[in-house]
Amino acid sequence: MVKGKFLWAVLFGILSLFISSQLFAQADVLEKRQKLMKGQSAAAKAIKGAAEGKDYATVETKARDIMGTADKIVDHFPKGSTAGKTKAKAEIWEKSDDFSKGAKNLRKAASELADAAKSGDGAAVDVKVKALSAACKGCHEPFRAEKYSGE
Ligand code: HEC
Repeated sequence: MVKGKFLWAVLFGILSLFISSQLFAQADVLEKRQKLMKGQSAAAKAIKGAAEGKDYATVETKARDIMGTADKIVDHFPKGSTAGKTKAKAEIWEKSDDFSKGAKNLRKAASELADAAKSGDGAAVDVKVKALSAACKGCHEPFRAEKYSGE
C-alpha cells in the first residue's frame, strides 16, 4: 500500500513537471509573437515619421522589415496556443485560411509601400502607408480580442 502511494506520488510529480513545462513553452510562444507584433508596431511608427519627413530610404527599409515579419506571423500561432496572457481569438484556428490571408495582405501592403518609397513618389507613399495600417487593422478586428485572457 505504502509503495503504491509512493508510486502515485512519483507519477503525479512527473505529470506536474510535464504540465508546467508545457505551460512555460506556451508562455514562450505568446511572448515571442507579442514581441514580433511590437516590432511591427515600432516599424509602422518609424514609417509614419519617415514618410512625413520624406525620408523614403527609411520608409523602404522598414517596409521591407515588415515584409519579413509578415511571413512569420502564421508560424507564431501554433494551434491552441491560447493558455496565458494573450489576445488571440479562437477564430485564428477556426478560420485559419482567413488568418493566413491577413498575413499575406500585410506582406503585399508592405511590399507595395516599399516599391512606392523606392520610386520616391510621395503621394503614392502616403496612400500605401494608409493601406499598411489598414492591413494591420484588417487582421486585428476579426482575430485579436480587446483584452488579454488568462493571468
Ligand atoms: C494576420 C493577423 C495580424 C496582422 C496582419 C497583424 N497583427 Fe498584430 N496581432 C495579431 C494578433 C492575433 C495579436 C494578439 C496576439 C496575442 O496576444 O497573443 C496581435 C497583437 C498585436 C500587438 C500587441 C502585442 C502585445 O504585446 O500584446 C501589436 C502592438 C500589434 N499586433 C501590432 C501590429 C501591427 C503594427 C501590424 C501591422 C504592421 C499588425 N499587428 C499586423 C494579428 C495580426
